[in-house]
Amino acid sequence: MTTTPPLRGPQAPIQILCLAGFMGSGKTTVGTLLARQLAWRFVDLDDRIEEAAGLTIPQIFERLGEASFRQMEADQLRAALGRASELREGTVLALGGGTYAQAGCPEFLRAAGVPVLWLDPPIEVLLARCMTMTGRPLFRDEASFRSLYAQRLASYELADHRVDSSGKPKQVVAEILRRGIVSKGGNEEHLVVENPKS
Ligand code: S3P
Repeated sequence: MTTTPPLRGPQAPIQILCLAGFMGSGKTTVGTLLARQLAWRFVDLDDRIEEAAGLTIPQIFERLGEASFRQMEADQLRAALGRASELREGTVLALGGGTYAQAGCPEFLRAAGVPVLWLDPPIEVLLARCMTMTGRPLFRDEASFRSLYAQRLASYELADHRVDSSGKPKQVVAEILRRGIVSKGGNEEHLVVENPKS
């Protein structure tokens, strides 16, 4: 993934917060609720990928393979950041479980000045949640789940913030707000990608 240096324009910076975390960490649920509370836009990267491909995530994995999925994921990440920048609207962007673990992704987001929050419940919670959900091609069995989690931990640890998301989504959102990770007002820390498509 190529990095794009942030460009600060004359206008107030747009606030973006990316949510990273393993499958079942609550990125979509917490992200939706957080965006609602902040009156920001909520964008789910998996939805963007499905829409762009005209296929569901399991279909993409099955028909095109994981490598194609990862390429689409990287492309849609750049597109989502570009769109947030264009619209100049606060945006909570839920990444897919593997997005932040892709080579170069943490560096790309850091260079773009986009803060990342890692939703990090214990693995037993992730496992229990994913057992009851469908549509996740990388959830095969407990052993491979644990091994993928272990492989990705070092990447997640690069995030700017970490919040335990084993509680109810409402409590997790309250904790994010309590810690001042994001706020409704302008904040230079939460900048922006002006031209992430290069
Ligand atoms: C994936 C996680 C999924 C989705 C795809 C691949 C992963 O997102 O992007 O199935 O590599 O862990 P969720 O974490 O939202 O389930």
